[in-house]
Amino acid sequence: MKNILNRLVLLATILCISSTFAQNRAPIPEVETLLKKMTLEEKIGQLNLLTPGGGVATGSVVSKNVEEKIKAGNVGGLFGVTGPDKIRQAQEIAVKKTRLGIPLLIGSDIIHGYKTTFPIPLGLSSSWDMELIEKTAQIAAKEATADGINWNFSPMVDIARDPRWGRISEGAGEDPYLGSAIAKAMVTGYQQNDLTEENTMIATVKHFALYGAAEGGRDYNTTDMSRTKMFNEYLPPYKAAIDAGAESVMSSFNDVDGVPASGNKWLLTSLLRDRWGFDGFVVSDYTSVNEMIAHGMGDLQAVSALAINAGLDMDMVGEGFLTTLNKSVDEGKVTEETITNACRRILEAKYKLGLFENPYKYSDSKRPKRDILTVANKEVAREAARKSFVLLKNEKNILPLAKNAKIALVGPLANNKNNMLGTWAPTGDPQLSIPILEGLKNVAPDAQITYAKGANISNDTAYAKKINVFGPRIEISEETPDALLENALNTTKNADVIVAVVGEATEMSGESSSRTNISIPDSQKLMIKKLVETGKPVVLVLMSGRPLVITDELQLPISILQVWHPGIEAGNAVADVLFGDYNPSGKLTASWPQNVGQIPVYHSMKTTGRPAPSTAFQKFKSQYLDAPNAPALAFGYGLSYTTFEYKNLKLNATQIEQGDDLTATVEVTNTGDYDGEEVVQLYLHDVVRSLAPPMRTLKGFHKVFIKKGETKTVTLTLKADDLKFYNASLDFIAEPGEFEVFVGGNSNASLKETFVLN
Ligand code: BGC
Repeated sequence: MKNILNRLVLLATILCISSTFAQNRAPIPEVETLLKKMTLEEKIGQLNLLTPGGGVATGSVVSKNVEEKIKAGNVGGLFGVTGPDKIRQAQEIAVKKTRLGIPLLIGSDIIHGYKTTFPIPLGLSSSWDMELIEKTAQIAAKEATADGINWNFSPMVDIARDPRWGRISEGAGEDPYLGSAIAKAMVTGYQQNDLTEENTMIATVKHFALYGAAEGGRDYNTTDMSRTKMFNEYLPPYKAAIDAGAESVMSSFNDVDGVPASGNKWLLTSLLRDRWGFDGFVVSDYTSVNEMIAHGMGDLQAVSALAINAGLDMDMVGEGFLTTLNKSVDEGKVTEETITNACRRILEAKYKLGLFENPYKYSDSKRPKRDILTVANKEVAREAARKSFVLLKNEKNILPLAKNAKIALVGPLANNKNNMLGTWAPTGDPQLSIPILEGLKNVAPDAQITYAKGANISNDTAYAKKINVFGPRIEISEETPDALLENALNTTKNADVIVAVVGEATEMSGESSSRTNISIPDSQKLMIKKLVETGKPVVLVLMSGRPLVITDELQLPISILQVWHPGIEAGNAVADVLFGDYNPSGKLTASWPQNVGQIPVYHSMKTTGRPAPSTAFQKFKSQYLDAPNAPALAFGYGLSYTTFEYKNLKLNATQIEQGDDLTATVEVTNTGDYDGEEVVQLYLHDVVRSLAPPMRTLKGFHKVFIKKGETKTVTLTLKADDLKFYNASLDFIAEPGEFEVFVGGNSNASLKETFVLN
């Protein structure tokens, strides 16, 4: 008996050891052979990611003596280096001048296109067009790999419900269902399920985790939330990216449950690897290992040990791994096995890319000319941009404009190349972008266009200095604000219509660009007011990297087209929509608040025990004294030049069993004067369950083209998993009971049917 027990214990120990060793899949023999040859120093060298500073340096340091470090076998990867020839040189040093000749990973931030810059991700998400989004990622991969890059620091899938946070621009907005679909589309676009191809690259899902929930919307700030909220509302897009095969994960700057993500073992091992089965590698964010010192987690040796023991494999720029891990092994604080496991994951990534077979696979100097900035790629950028625009208001149906109209084009963003690409487009060239004035002339050569700047983006020089770190985004004219305005008013005199291009400069959103006041800057608000006073029809073309507070502008008798930062084809795409060559079809993917005090405001809020009455204010209910609960513009909202009517919502069953799918059909009629596309949306309300349910939450959508006068029947399928949620024990389950289904053109959809899950 004792013998059997002993054997069982032994077996359990072996199983346990081999599961840490083998991770989730079979070892790759070539990698195992290489690992056996490596010294501890060489293994640590592979965990080191450097940048010589050719890209955007978002931390306070860039790497020094990079060439010497590569020769010494101290580097596993580089970023901020581009061009097939430069990358060939770097690979040659790694391959020819080091003992084992291990090639480098070459990373980059290709967030919304490489040189062909697409709209910012928040804009792209507003297209609700997964095929298009995948195509943009595929093109980005083709261009970037042509320029030598094999590893992308994208997609960013952080759920963001606080538009003060500047990086809301880099993601897909507030919703985990849509965010998961987009995460999958982007990973598939970059990796194409085949990393052996020369035009695919490794995708990195970031920033793991909860980075978008920074308190107060202040970048890099702490986050704190319950596990159930995390699992139900914030984690799904990361998981979707991993399920889609993302090979790498980037840890975030913030802490999660009080432990910075880069040193959080629950996050990087228990959840990511043990629960989700992730078997790729984890890279830190820019110096985020070192930053754990400032978080209060100890000195460089302590935080580096914390990170590697937590499950972080590669240290971006900080060199804490390089300089302290050896000592930590000597002192027994880190095991060599932990380092070997991290090194194995990085070598496996290189193996999957085919770099051992051919380290110069991405160094074909003929490719850039052939693959980058092609006419076809720019055509997709134009299509993506016009599909990302959201028509917020169309006063007296002034849009679309006639192609021979007399147009006064005004505003600081109307004839401006420096702000078209949007945040995090360091590989793009703003000078290649099409300004709005040029686009209008291209699309409507017969229009009579007069242009005047009208206002500065901001009149505040100190503010402009903060924004202009990467170039002249806010240019304050030598003319006085009054003179600028007067000039603009003069140009409006003979016009039929005023088109005012206003909003945020590129770097007013994005990393380290949080704002507490998210209105249109005062200089431009004043200009808008004066333009409206002329009595002429006014169309605002609004640019921003976030939802704005535009409560004042929504009350004016004007039309508003939200165009985000549209990318390289900005002007052409804006003109396509203004003149009706394309009928706008975008829908908001994050709610636009009435005012900053309402934040966070999102469609899937809970009812509370004291729901607000739908009519007048009532004491002791969950509401504000000075603003409604509803946002100014709801999630899923967006107009078209035509109108759509929904009727005959039907479910294929009123009772279903666990595991069953359910089908909803609805008839959508184009009742207006233009052909157009509509995003048909399905929202679900789980009426009674063990965790207080959201009032409704997105669970399906379908973008459909409908000719004027035509009716289409749209089918949406609720999968068994769509009824599930993570309960208090974090089990993913569906609880029996009644469900309500709402279908319509935005999150206020009112057509309703019910069913029961047995
Ligand atoms: C950002 C990351 C980016 C990294 C490297 C960081 O500051 O948070 O998103 O990938 O820099 O450029």
